Amino acid sequence: MWMRRWARSLALLVPLAAAAATAQAPPRVSSPDGRNVVTVAIRDGRLTYALDRDGRALLLPSLLGFAFRGAPPLRDSLQVTDTARQTVDDTWTQPWGEVARVRDHHNELRVSVAETADDARAWWIPSNRPRLDRSEMLFSSSPVSVLDSVQTPLTMETRDGRTFIVIHEANLVDYARMFLAGARMQDRTLRAALAPYADGVKVRGRTPFVTPWRTIQLADRATDLAPSVLGLNLNPPSVIPNTSWIKPMKYVGIWWGMHIGTMTWSSGPRHGATTANAKRYIDFAAANGLGGVLVEGWNVGWDGDWIQNRNAFSFTQAYPDYDLAEVARYAHAKGVKLIVHNETSGGIENYERQMDSAFALYHSLGLDAIKSGYVTDLTTEGHSHWGQYMVRHYRHVIERAAQYGIMLDVHEPVHDTGERRTYPNMMTREGARGQEYNAWGGEGGNPPEHETILFFTRMLAGPMDFTPGIFDILIERGSGRPRRPDEPRVRTTLAKQLALYVVLYSPLQMAADLPENYEHQPAFQFIRDVPVDWDTTRVLEGKIGDYVVVARRERNGPDWYVGAITDEEGRSFDVPLSFLPPGRKYVAEVYADGPGAHWLTNPLPVTISQRAVDANSRLHLVLAPGGGQAIRIRPAR
Ligand code: NOJ
Ligand code: CA
Repeated sequence: MWMRRWARSLALLVPLAAAAATAQAPPRVSSPDGRNVVTVAIRDGRLTYALDRDGRALLLPSLLGFAFRGAPPLRDSLQVTDTARQTVDDTWTQPWGEVARVRDHHNELRVSVAETADDARAWWIPSNRPRLDRSEMLFSSSPVSVLDSVQTPLTMETRDGRTFIVIHEANLVDYARMFLAGARMQDRTLRAALAPYADGVKVRGRTPFVTPWRTIQLADRATDLAPSVLGLNLNPPSVIPNTSWIKPMKYVGIWWGMHIGTMTWSSGPRHGATTANAKRYIDFAAANGLGGVLVEGWNVGWDGDWIQNRNAFSFTQAYPDYDLAEVARYAHAKGVKLIVHNETSGGIENYERQMDSAFALYHSLGLDAIKSGYVTDLTTEGHSHWGQYMVRHYRHVIERAAQYGIMLDVHEPVHDTGERRTYPNMMTREGARGQEYNAWGGEGGNPPEHETILFFTRMLAGPMDFTPGIFDILIERGSGRPRRPDEPRVRTTLAKQLALYVVLYSPLQMAADLPENYEHQPAFQFIRDVPVDWDTTRVLEGKIGDYVVVARRERNGPDWYVGAITDEEGRSFDVPLSFLPPGRKYVAEVYADGPGAHWLTNPLPVTISQRAVDANSRLHLVLAPGGGQAIRIRPAR
């Protein structure tokens, strides 16, 4: 008997006698004299044997199977696939012994079994890593049976590739967030686990009590997973009667400079949030049709260790070199929305204490969008980032923001469970590893496959403020010097940065690079053009962790956009444009990886071309390793 880690068949040799077994009955074998009978049976998916003698049970049904070190057991979800029998009656001679001739007279039953449960492949991020009590980790992929404790949405693919399964939750209002804990190496059972309060209590409430939905989404193909509307359908309809003030937009921000180290959030000579800088960004946004400008580091509290000093944050008092009212006035005059930044570092009571006066101030200045932040593992109050305490807080902020007419983009959030249906001002959130990791280089930044996993995992929960659009891929121009190869950089081609605008949906979508890095860049036209609100979405091609091709039609307009991204492998796709209405002439404006493009060695070349197309055309997309392609398809003029 032998087996490998994933061996599926197990043979059982019973050196006793056989009786004719019917097809349905458990296989049974008796000794030649008929007195000893072994019965092999599957009970609850487990293989057992039992022994009777003269009709009396001697060994009750007993388990057969294997446990392994470092691999799942071969024990569960078994079925009998085959039986074979023979009768032996031999006599053989020993070279020496107490008898010379030995009679071997037995009936043999050989039972083959196979595992019926499919050890599906899962794409996951852990939920139980100390000091990383957030969602900003790289995804791993492994068989479900080895999962430890993971976050949802958890996307799985059965081994035969015929079914995709996504476990998540919906309408998380007043409960702890759910994780899935596997009994590692034991079996394929996943258990719901809840993040606790500081005192260990998981959920507080009084009956009657409504829990979130647990959702299981099924699809035949990975491309059928998105867009996922299950969570939206399981949330109550909007409670905001007039939503006309809630508008998707693209935005730039005083932001990337802090991440690449040329600006600071804190006060001092490199302070990013100055009135002059903000006006420069507002001018840039206005000139390029971008709706908003985010300004981080405008408010008092960033000096020193802002993660530790979280209770020092003021949400109303600006640094002296930043005139909030003047910047708000200037933005309004230019038709640009100022996005206010509220980093809490997990100082929840500090934030909640100031929230009403801060939101009232913003409202009085005509500011209707906030990007918030919760960089922390535990709140100041000692609660898990993901427990009921924080779920209640996030909901409280959404409700208050709605009252003050404020849209939200939440970083370090609790995961998206469809809240935006009830509160459409809850527009987007981070809640995964975004572009910022390419600036810091943590774990080497984001590998080229990262976004091809995000699309089929995190993005199934809802929109993500990934912050695409870095053109200075090597972060050389921005930092003003050549960079060593081991320094942080973006690990895509430039064309892939464009494609991310179509692939990674967010109603608040950033043009993340410094404005000066967009100047004189023909490819920036794509960012100017690409919409942030869509009528129709079609996922044309996709393999989790390898590639995605998405087509979307803008809302209230005829233009289609196609975004294609790949991992570290170059790939090509033939895309039929049959989604276009028949008989109408279009022009495809194609932003493709240029000659010799490669994310590692040559990330910048982009070839921009145009061709006439219609519903009968096919586009041949060629993507460089780590590359992408972005296409606008507009009616011919
Ligand atoms: C992390 C956020 O993801 C990032 O966008 C922000 O700039 C910093 N925190 C500071 O709030
Ligand atoms: Ca973050």
